[in-house]
Amino acid sequence: MTYAVQANNVSKYINSGEQSLPILQNINLQISQGATAAIVGPSGVGKTTLLSLLAGLDTASEGQIMLAGTDISACDEETRTTLRAGRIGFVFQSFQLLPSYSALENVVLAAELANIPSPRDAAIRALESVGLGHRLKHVPSRLSGGEQQRVALARAFVGKPEILFADEPTGNLDAKTGAGIIEQLFALNADAGTTLILVTHDPALASQCQQVWQLSDQGLTLS
Ligand SMILES: Nc1ncnc2c1ncn2[C@@H]1O[C@H](COP(=O)(O)OP(=O)(O)OP(=O)(O)O)[C@@H](O)[C@H]1O
Ligand SMILES: [Mg+2]
Repeated sequence: MTYAVQANNVSKYINSGEQSLPILQNINLQISQGATAAIVGPSGVGKTTLLSLLAGLDTASEGQIMLAGTDISACDEETRTTLRAGRIGFVFQSFQLLPSYSALENVVLAAELANIPSPRDAAIRALESVGLGHRLKHVPSRLSGGEQQRVALARAFVGKPEILFADEPTGNLDAKTGAGIIEQLFALNADAGTTLILVTHDPALASQCQQVWQLSDQGLTLS
């Protein structure tokens, strides 16, 4: 069995003064290539931290993480960056768009980093597909929260990633727009075999996924 993502006994500690505070302890997880998985759990339990570790944006204090066949716990930042640019998409809870770039420029940059042919055309198509064809030239501060979220989604999938991580992808959207986004994420999974890993508080979205991982103070379990 080939896994898109695998965590083996992963722990994350944060240094706070003299103390080392545990955020995640002994996490084990396996998500198959082409699968859809949800990570659920109460606010503050460590879902965003876990997603950042799995995507190689942050490093574990202990344990091993395999991402797209690479042991990211053992490789340097440069290797992780190259892996992310070409094969991994990430939608942050806080969007993290470049503030001085327009919506289009934010998405073009991601398409260029992923070596997509005709990056500008691909970026326009991606933005049109999230209903933002009329907002290409707006910088993030001139977009609503939901619009920024949709730019972040377009940026994450324009590179046709093998694995797409999304932290609360519909958290700021109305029901109709959110449903459209979910439809697109699952279409990406069905058409391109993209592995989807979603953090969500939405039970309806979680139940659409093949796997639901429950994170609590006791650890991570497959429900
Ligand atoms: N850099 C950091 N320094 C100190 N504490 C941190 C840091 N990052 C996260 N934490 C703490 O770790 C815990 C988990 O945070 P995290 O953002 O992963 O939670 P979450 O499950 O995503 O919550 P939410 O559902 O509200 O987004 C929180 O208590 C948070 O305060
Ligand atoms: Mg979070």
